[in-house]
Amino acid sequence: MKLKDKIAIITGSGAGIGRSMVEVFARQGAKVAAASRRAVNGQPVVDAVVSAGGEAIFVRCDVSVEKDVREMVAKAVEEYGRIDILVNNAGVNFVKPFEQTQRADWDRVINTDLLGTYLCSRYAIIEMLKTGGGSIVNITTVHTMASLPGAGPYDAAKWGMVGLTKALAVEYATRNIRVNALSPGLIDTQIWTDIQEAAPNPQECLAYWKSNIPMGRVGSPEEIANVAVFLASDEASYVTGTNIFADGGMTSQLISQEPFASETLGGGAR
Ligand SMILES: NC(=O)c1ccc[n+]([C@@H]2O[C@H](COP(=O)([O-])OP(=O)(O)OC[C@H]3O[C@@H](n4cnc5c(N)ncnc54)[C@H](O)[C@@H]3O)[C@@H](O)[C@H]2O)c1
Repeated sequence: MKLKDKIAIITGSGAGIGRSMVEVFARQGAKVAAASRRAVNGQPVVDAVVSAGGEAIFVRCDVSVEKDVREMVAKAVEEYGRIDILVNNAGVNFVKPFEQTQRADWDRVINTDLLGTYLCSRYAIIEMLKTGGGSIVNITTVHTMASLPGAGPYDAAKWGMVGLTKALAVEYATRNIRVNALSPGLIDTQIWTDIQEAAPNPQECLAYWKSNIPMGRVGSPEEIANVAVFLASDEASYVTGTNIFADGGMTSQLISQEPFASETLGGGAR
């Protein structure tokens, strides 16, 4: 077990990647404070983990509300005595033409993804400093390599998270707190469902996305959770301040694959 008896807080754990992280972290021996805005989403995740023999508690928390974050950290400490791991996973996925965005859109995305990361990190670090250190994993995105139209507020927030990752990694390096970012590509959660439902032709949509992912498939939440386990674990003891891409090769491909062969271009037989 890679996380045996580690105490972990995972935010936004009621669905998608966060839900999978709670399950995978618990299987790896962690005691998990699974934080979610609504008990109706978060409690069943905890119940499933506990009935499978894992250890987890539900903690209600909107990461953009400082009082919630303070209470979330206090509850995890009260229950388990310390905090070893924080995963800042709660996030709003957002696309809208920039000129149509409202101040409220900006606030919602920034307050969840960036302010939430600030608040959770600050209160968790206060506790980690008392007990000799810890590990923070910030869930960012492939958009921290390159962007797409309509992603202004989202990208501003996620790039901010990478900046905070590096700043905190440097600031706490000698105090045994490691801070890393983990950038998923397209993962099979609600966002992938939304993309497919919004497409006029689901087959074309699938073909388009496949051609933009060298591995030719969408990732699973568990494939992201497994990387988070590594970053959170002692196996990553010399890893801090980095941004790991788990994206099936998406950010390594310059443009999507052509529907015709051009293998002999430049120097080939003519
Ligand atoms: N799925 C993808 O393709 C993908 C790609 C790149 C990055 N990500 C990132 O991964 C993370 C998880 O996304 P997901 O795909 O599982 O999406 P999701 O919508 O299934 O899960 C996001 C979770 O965050 C919670 N949340 C939203 N606002 C919150 C708040 N203020 N306080 C607490 N919780 C809040 C939601 O309730 C939900 O449970 C996000 O940070 C997202 O930006 C996802």
